Amino acid sequence: PYQLGLFGHPVKHSQSPGIHQGFATQYGIELDYQLIDASPDELPTRFKDWIKTAHGCNVTVPHKTDIMPLLDHYTEKAHLCQAVNTVFWQDGELWGDNTDGDGLILDLVSKGIELAGKEILIIGAGGAVKGIIPSLLEQGVMSISIKNRNVEKAAALASNFKRCSTAGLKTSLDFDLIIHATSMGHQGLSPDLKDHWFYEKTIAYDLSYGQAAEPFLAAAKACGAKQTFDGLGMLYGQAALAFERWFGKRPEINLPPK
Ligand code: ATR
Repeated sequence: PYQLGLFGHPVKHSQSPGIHQGFATQYGIELDYQLIDASPDELPTRFKDWIKTAHGCNVTVPHKTDIMPLLDHYTEKAHLCQAVNTVFWQDGELWGDNTDGDGLILDLVSKGIELAGKEILIIGAGGAVKGIIPSLLEQGVMSISIKNRNVEKAAALASNFKRCSTAGLKTSLDFDLIIHATSMGHQGLSPDLKDHWFYEKTIAYDLSYGQAAEPFLAAAKACGAKQTFDGLGMLYGQAALAFERWFGKRPEINLPPK
């Protein structure tokens, strides 16, 4: 079997093994997909040792940026995001890619959500946001407003990208798509949402999935969101694109029924 895995801290609740097993079955490929819980201190040694015999790996929080110095090359996307979620071998050298943003785009496209010319609001300014901005910009969005508890962090992030700015000063602006990217949902909380951010076409999307997405999606519905989605489709999308890096084939995505 092909040895693959996920480096993170923690990783034990990850759905990645099951998702990749499902993809592999589509092609009759045999996988041994391992979950590797490595603390930040352990990461360099554990990774260098493990990857020697592996076909590739995924990388998640908190290692997406710290993995970068351990690799030989990055794709343009990983460079723009300054974060890596997928590692693969090419000609004996290690490459880092980031499929998170394109995974989100795959999911939005499959849901019939258009991005060209649209006004986007992103709530949050952490690692998850860095990973999606370059892909959203590639789709020709008109503007991305970033709102975050720590305003300086939002401003610093926005200054790295074109067509990005910090929200908060504007009092009336309708957004076509509002993306929630803070970790508040894991504490059962939603950020404070303003009615005037929403109009009859506003779509709300939480990068988290399952229970963690519920507080924000409920708050967005109460503000009049037309449709709400959690990030399960993005999780599958980033996995399908990682699988394509490893095996040169893009698997079909069949989301589990709700
Ligand atoms: P990730 O990599 O998942 O994005 P992160 O880098 O720790 O995680 O970022 C967490 C995000 O959630 C940040 O935008 C953080 O806001 P700050 O930059 O102000 O810290 C946001 N966040 C977490 N808890 C929050 C809370 N209780 N209220 C508001 N924002 C919160």
